[in-house]
Amino acid sequence: MDTFEYQNGLLHAEEVSLSKIAEEFGTPTYVYSRDALERAYLDYAEALEGRDALVCYAVKANSNLAVLNVLARLGAGFDIVSAGELERVLRAGGDPAKVVFSGVGKQPDEIRRALEAGILCFNIESDAELDRVNAVAGEMGVKAPVSFRVNPDVDAGTHPYISTGLKENKFGIDIDTAVEVYRRAAALPHVDVVGMDCHIGSQLTEISPFLDALDRLLALLDTLAQEGIEIEHLDLGGGLGVCYTDEQPPSAGEYIAAVLDKMGTRGLKLIFEPGRSIAANAGVMLTRVEFLKQTGEKNFAIIDGAMNDLIRPSLYSAYQEIIPVQLREEGDTKAWDLVGPVCETGDFLGKDRQLNLQPGDLLAVCSAGAYGFVMASNYNTRPRPAEVMVDDNQAYLVRARESLSDLMRGEQLLPQG
Ligand code: LLP
Repeated sequence: MDTFEYQNGLLHAEEVSLSKIAEEFGTPTYVYSRDALERAYLDYAEALEGRDALVCYAVKANSNLAVLNVLARLGAGFDIVSAGELERVLRAGGDPAKVVFSGVGKQPDEIRRALEAGILCFNIESDAELDRVNAVAGEMGVKAPVSFRVNPDVDAGTHPYISTGLKENKFGIDIDTAVEVYRRAAALPHVDVVGMDCHIGSQLTEISPFLDALDRLLALLDTLAQEGIEIEHLDLGGGLGVCYTDEQPPSAGEYIAAVLDKMGTRGLKLIFEPGRSIAANAGVMLTRVEFLKQTGEKNFAIIDGAMNDLIRPSLYSAYQEIIPVQLREEGDTKAWDLVGPVCETGDFLGKDRQLNLQPGDLLAVCSAGAYGFVMASNYNTRPRPAEVMVDDNQAYLVRARESLSDLMRGEQLLPQG
């Protein structure tokens, strides 16, 4: 993570020290690097240069308006899964004509809003959803552009909770019945069949599952072409993994080169929906050590960040590096469990981490730019953290820390008596 580097023993985000950010904005705070976001996006965009292609950043990974805006300025498209994410993209200056709408449970209102905004297409996941989109478009007197998310039944070799391309998963349309669904769609009056998509899982560290899925999709495309059903774009979803500790995923460039190689001379437009590989290593969560508590069994460092702020370790047993903001020469390195103030045994951000700690120390939980803040909750009535974006030597508050009144907004007491 070269964006977050030590300068004179002090961890920096680009040219701003994390201790300065903690002083100014408090902790816990998410800190993002504009440069790292841009570079990660450009890895995709540059590998696709000269080709009819679109990189639709998966908004779910990090939907902060400033993050979306930085990517929109570079010409990114967006992959959304709700009307809420659509509204964020529009407010951040994203182009609706570059938006694909994924997700298994789109509501009629969401479909209507997306049609009004003029999105690129709906990624349809079931027969019933196709009928719903057709009906809403009919009421509006328009045609909805649709793509079908095909479930290619390949094993992405990733964590079962984030593997989505197997028959047993709830996602997509079974590849064996896809031809019938395409046929039916082609005959519906209010949809326009424009694409085919798939998303087989997240945090993939090998290229081969992507290529297996692509093979199956290309075979399906050929079958459809024989029936006169022509597809304009192929969307391979997201899923490229990142390095959290010692994983060695392919770079975006390597992944795209392998895809382009397999595409050969097919002129189809290509879409990708990367989330994690754009945002994860562009962010850290900054937290402070409150107390050190050593029992006969364990050394606990109680920190001010908790599972409600960053749930990946508790939810998936995910490993994220935790490093000190200030390097210390004196004192002992010991194994620490880094635990938050939430009343759950599962409230930890890291276990058995070799660190040299003192109360008051600042720590950075690495690779927290994706699926970090977006999955935060208010459990234990804890305000969600602030979010800060660094651009060179400036740090900007891009979301204020929640206040207690934010947390109680909309709640009411019963009438007296
Ligand atoms: N497209 C679709 C249809 C998706 O479902 C997802 C992620 C993406 C794109 C982006 O995938 P990425 O490039 O980020 O792998 N909360 C989990 C990850 C859940 C991913 C869900 N879908 C985590 O923290 O690991």
